[in-house]
Amino acid sequence: MAKKTEPIPGTSDIFPDEAAEWQFLEHTAHEIFQRYGYGELRTPSMERTAVFEKGIGGETDVVQKEMYTFEDRGGRSLTLRPEGTAGVMRALVNAGIAQGDEKRVFYIGPMFRGERPAAGRKRQFHQIGVECVGTIAPEIDVETIEMLLRYLDTIGLGDSKLKVNSRGTIADRPHIQETLTAYFRDHLADMCEDCQRRIDTNVWRILDCKNEACGAIVLGSPPITDLLDAESGDFFKRVCERLDLLELDYTVDPRLVRGLDYYEHTVFEVSFDGIGAQNALVGGGRYSIQVPGSNKPVLGTGFAMGIERLILARQELGISTSQQEGLDAYLVSIGEEALAANLRLARSLRDCGLRVGMDLQARGTKAQMRTANKVNATVAIIRGEDELARNIVNCKNLAASEQHEIAVDELPDKLNEILGKA
Ligand code: HAM
Repeated sequence: MAKKTEPIPGTSDIFPDEAAEWQFLEHTAHEIFQRYGYGELRTPSMERTAVFEKGIGGETDVVQKEMYTFEDRGGRSLTLRPEGTAGVMRALVNAGIAQGDEKRVFYIGPMFRGERPAAGRKRQFHQIGVECVGTIAPEIDVETIEMLLRYLDTIGLGDSKLKVNSRGTIADRPHIQETLTAYFRDHLADMCEDCQRRIDTNVWRILDCKNEACGAIVLGSPPITDLLDAESGDFFKRVCERLDLLELDYTVDPRLVRGLDYYEHTVFEVSFDGIGAQNALVGGGRYSIQVPGSNKPVLGTGFAMGIERLILARQELGISTSQQEGLDAYLVSIGEEALAANLRLARSLRDCGLRVGMDLQARGTKAQMRTANKVNATVAIIRGEDELARNIVNCKNLAASEQHEIAVDELPDKLNEILGKA
């Protein structure tokens, strides 16, 4: 039985020692994406349900089975965002993107999907994503992938595997769909129940079915790259040529379709071995998204990566950003007067950028010293009546167990010396 204080299944509390790792991944994203002209966009965690139904596609697993949808008090159907792209498109359309204008944004935040929780699969997870709208050239797909690989390399995951494919355009769909349907119909009896239904509702979804028997049949299916029309074929060829030009490592997976229906042309995924079945770190591609209330689809390219999975991959490699070190100084007060004086001292030391803690409850000296050790302070600064009268402090270096008297005026400089910050 789960304890009542535990977070609900598929969600987590992230404590300060883990948060250092999250901050590193987020700061690195800010730093690298800004080099490519991306700015941060923060959109709400919930949207009108139609934003996702229309944007992602009604036949996808995400929309059919995984959304947290509810009616608010005004009878409106709202949904906790299962991904970032559809809401970002809604925001850009709402802000009014002029025809031909390029917009580059990135986002970081929680997403919600009602999936069965497992290692690397959560109900509230966090994505770092980017979207570039308004540029049609295949080169933007390549630049986006190059930026993604630079990010992964910077965070120590340069050995991940990148797979790319093309889904062609809407014009290609009927022809590809017919060919795939004819192939899978011949194997229908050996496929899972879901796929037997998918053959009529959305044959593309069969290509990413996780069932073993279906997987074997998928491997023999006609490669999508062979079914593209001339225009889509040329587009994809250009993407591959440019990836080669930049000497980026990738493989073409001609059956990669991705789980969301808005993709057209390029799709890609990055996976990492060694973190279990949920090994997709990143998913992305070029898309055409319908925003409710607008009659023109928005065209763009982007990707999103799951922060929890990036962390799992880094743990697998034994890398992590260490938790914030302990405090620089812990102030120990002997008596009421010293406590009052230390409140002022703590304030002035923090003004100098030092990390300072102190006992606020007038406990005994021993208890205060125990806390100074427990919070991993470098020094304990001890003051009682005598020290106050002489305008000095007793500064104890906790690791070396040495103690010196220091004049209060000289304290910031002396502390910086002890801490190696001078
Ligand atoms: P997605 O492939 O559905 O694409 O998700 C992207 C990444 O989010 C996955 O590769 C994975 O790392 C993480 N992720 C997804 N579901 C979960 C989960 N239940 N638990 C933990 N991590 C998860 C999208 O969301 C698209 N919006 C990406 C995109 C942006 N395409 C174009 N622009």
